[in-house]
Amino acid sequence: MVLGHAEVMELLLDHETFSNQVSSHLSIPNGMDPPQHTHFRSLIDSFFTPVAMAEFKPRCQEIVQELVASLPRDEDIEAVTKVGEELALRVQTAFMGWPARIEESLRAWTHANLEATRSRDQEAAAQVAQSFSDQVREIILDDGRSPVDAISSLISAKVDGRSLAEEEIVSIVRNWTMGEVGTITSSVGIIVDHLARDADLQSDLRSHPDDLGMAVDEILRIHGPLMTNRRVATRRVELAGQVINKGDRLTIMWPQANRDESVFGDADAFRPEANAPMNLLYGGGIHICPGAPLARMQLTMITRELLQQSSSIEPGKDPSQRAVFPSGGFAAVWVRLR
Ligand code: HEM
Repeated sequence: MVLGHAEVMELLLDHETFSNQVSSHLSIPNGMDPPQHTHFRSLIDSFFTPVAMAEFKPRCQEIVQELVASLPRDEDIEAVTKVGEELALRVQTAFMGWPARIEESLRAWTHANLEATRSRDQEAAAQVAQSFSDQVREIILDDGRSPVDAISSLISAKVDGRSLAEEEIVSIVRNWTMGEVGTITSSVGIIVDHLARDADLQSDLRSHPDDLGMAVDEILRIHGPLMTNRRVATRRVELAGQVINKGDRLTIMWPQANRDESVFGDADAFRPEANAPMNLLYGGGIHICPGAPLARMQLTMITRELLQQSSSIEPGKDPSQRAVFPSGGFAAVWVRLR
């Protein structure tokens, strides 16, 4: 396990020694190294450009406003499912250009995936992966599919001068969906829990909404939504004084690196500006999160809307419950909107 900020940085910046090819399953682009990774990343990055984000922004804003307006006031709400998961599923469905009915199958798939991860049941995990692939294949084959959806763009895209195979499209879509649903759900739970316990921060952010972007990144540095990613060593190397042999597997522990006291001092202190340059929330190096602009957009919007559509966010009667590793964040966060 790689825990220190400096060691995680060393690993991220040396992708030749620390390879992403940790599994024999196709995983685009997460499980790839250059040059293959580079070709796929330029295609994937083209979906998250400032222009693509500006085009999606009004729809994202609509989803966020409707969701917050529909929440009950003055009674306890469980924010992880009622706000986080709901936001993640609606945004993912809209971003992909899928019909709203897909939301329900995505929800079922997310729950089954979570359960398989929790119980470390590899057979169940394989079944869940298969059912997701079947669903994406169905969308690929659906003649009634919108010609402007993300899958249509992937079907007509070229990587290294050739079209993508069906299994490559499925893999890309699976990794976007996994990237979106798990981390966004978890992030919303963490943000809402943090705000409910800090009334002063709520009023600061209500009067200075321009500070929201940095505040959200800092809340998620203090309490990370994503626990781990993996690497495998391609040669014998020393890291943090430990000998790592060729073929050894390493696990990056994001929340620990982001709370390293030799970099951040008091890890719980809320210092958005000072800590931003070293914040590893979205990773670093060539695998840095391509979905970060979409994640930041929806997390800033939901936080702004929750603050603007309430006079206060208060803790509910029941305390928040932590999620169990390897999930991050909370299993439940009870709050009241006043
Ligand atoms: C708060 C939300 C999110 C967090 C904290 C997060 C964090 C990360 C981190 C730390 C990595 C680097 C992994 C590594 O080095 O092995 C990563 C990669 C990735 N993320 Fe995200 N992510 C978020 C949201 C998203 C979203 C919304 C999407 C897509 C819609 C996405 C898609 C991906 C993909 C495809 C990769 C692999 C990139 C590569 O290997 O080149 N993520 N993410």
